[in-house]
Amino acid sequence: MNAIEAIMSRRSTRQFLDAMPDEEMIRTIVEAGRAAPSGGNSQSSHFFVIRDPQVLDSLALTVQNAFARMEVTEGMYRSIASSITRSKAGGYRFHYDAPVLIVIANQKDYGNNIADCACALENMMIAGNALNLGTCWINQLKWLNENPEILAVFRGYGLQENERIYGALAVGIPASPDHLPARTPLPRTGNEVTCIG
Ligand SMILES: Cc1cc2nc3c(=O)[nH]c(=O)nc-3n(C[C@H](O)[C@H](O)[C@H](O)COP(=O)(O)O)c2cc1C
Repeated sequence: MNAIEAIMSRRSTRQFLDAMPDEEMIRTIVEAGRAAPSGGNSQSSHFFVIRDPQVLDSLALTVQNAFARMEVTEGMYRSIASSITRSKAGGYRFHYDAPVLIVIANQKDYGNNIADCACALENMMIAGNALNLGTCWINQLKWLNENPEILAVFRGYGLQENERIYGALAVGIPASPDHLPARTPLPRTGNEVTCIG
């Protein structure tokens, strides 16, 4: 698969096998993230590659508890409201039980923090597709990136005082009949293009 094919056929995967993907593939995906461009070549993203099922379980519980303490308010972003409602109901697995979660942080006072993390995430999603692995952008840790319990968890793994989480990526072998990611592109109904000249 060439780069254009990998970009054009990338879709999100939200159901994964328990099996751990090949270590070399995970390494390649993380290196694809690290190879992303960054504002002023700052290279200040910080990647946390979580493969320990107990850590992921405990993190999922911490996320659920954090959302369960929040209230849905009018005009709230739909996905946050859904995370709150589902957390209150119990059994909320923000990472879709993927065997690998790559969490990406950056400096909170750096103006390109989210942009740099997004470039890294997109690179990793495309690399995952090229390697026949499923990926899905996971935003819950960004929404909770000032939550003291979640900060404490990541501080324990080396998140610096001036760093915050801006995104995460679920990675795994898709639980599809052929164990390949879905690749049918969604119709483009938005993303207007204006050509000048
Ligand atoms: C900034 C951003 C945040 C996203 N957050 C989540 C998320 O928290 N959970 C999730 O399941 N998908 C998330 N997604 C995936 C989108 O829902 C998905 O890309 C979109 O529905 C299009 O589907 P596709 O990825 O299969 O093309 C996110 C995507 C982006 C770009």
